[in-house]
Amino acid sequence: MSSWGNYVKISVFGESHGNGIGIVIDGLPAGEKIDMDALLAQMGRRAPGKDKAATPRLEKDLPEILSGMLDDTTTGAPLCAVIRNTNTRSQDYSGLMIRPRPGHADYTGSVRYGGFNDVRGGGHFSARLTAPIVFAGAVCRQILERRGIKIAAHIASIGSINDERFCGADIPDELMERLSGAVFGLIDQSREESMRALIEECRLSGDSIGGTIECAITGMPAGAGSPMFYGIENVISSVIFGVPAVKGIEFGSGFDGSALRGSENNDEFYYDGDTVKTRTNNHGGILGGISSGMPIIFRTAMKPTPSIAREQKTVDLEEKTDTVISVKGRHDPCIVVRAVPVIESAAALAVTELLKEVGKL
Ligand SMILES: Cc1cc2nc3c(=O)[nH]c(=O)nc-3n(C[C@H](O)[C@H](O)[C@H](O)COP(=O)(O)O)c2cc1C
Repeated sequence: MSSWGNYVKISVFGESHGNGIGIVIDGLPAGEKIDMDALLAQMGRRAPGKDKAATPRLEKDLPEILSGMLDDTTTGAPLCAVIRNTNTRSQDYSGLMIRPRPGHADYTGSVRYGGFNDVRGGGHFSARLTAPIVFAGAVCRQILERRGIKIAAHIASIGSINDERFCGADIPDELMERLSGAVFGLIDQSREESMRALIEECRLSGDSIGGTIECAITGMPAGAGSPMFYGIENVISSVIFGVPAVKGIEFGSGFDGSALRGSENNDEFYYDGDTVKTRTNNHGGILGGISSGMPIIFRTAMKPTPSIAREQKTVDLEEKTDTVISVKGRHDPCIVVRAVPVIESAAALAVTELLKEVGKL
């Protein structure tokens, strides 16, 4: 389903090479002023054609708001935004119905939808559908910021080159602000050159590379989330897995924590004035599915871009024979870079949903 949420409901529509894509968001609080320049800046971080590490397909990604806002302020009615597709080269994709790309959804999509799915540019599976998610996330982010909640992510790794990790218990506002506006967001910016070199090396050899993204949410009040099945991890994961190419998620110390002892992994409590805090944050701001008030921290694994120029084996579904494919068209050599604002946006949607659920928004 392309609809998500119980309290803030979104419905994402469109195909990569159709007339346009967009989103309907229902359940936003009324009277929220939205800074359109800030919103467009967020969409610009995801838009292609701006960075060498991304696809050269140029799309302006200008949202046209059809309803739900008056004088840049939410009215409480469903907010609908449409983004027209302008730069399509569908001939690049002819043949994918017959010879599916390894790693992409051409094969499973055609089985699931009986061959009626629009395969051009990846159709509804395209990463272009993350533009409406960033639109929604940019709206939610402003509503949350007004309540002291900040969201920022960074490139945690490209291949085996790692950035530093968030220092979990105390993440400075300046770092959150810098990362949430960055196009190649890193905590340690000295790693940019080697990461870019690796991406370029993959691109030049007709290949691609994967990586991980780490996201932090600061200022989250304690007491949100409803276990067993509507806890913070459940809700964040459900929207994060709507982002194409996400193959894993871990919270707090995650998989590394499984190798620790309780005495190492537990975060001891203390009073900071009237507020209960922890000095370490292996729990990533979540205990029992409920926010603790410490920063929420999670990491996502992003697979390497499936569409690569290098020749690979596939099948001819018409001839029922084995064959080969070399993918043409314009593709990201590394998904991670453009996915950072998408992950932040998904997190903003999840937090808005969770706060509404407990009546805190
Ligand atoms: C920001 C972003 C950009 C992407 N760019 C491409 C791309 O240029 N080429 C491609 O084949 N896949 C790209 N993908 C990934 C595919 O959309 C995805 O792998 C495909 O739909 C199959 O879904 P799955 O990987 O979740 O199983 C991108 C994903 C994201 C989030």
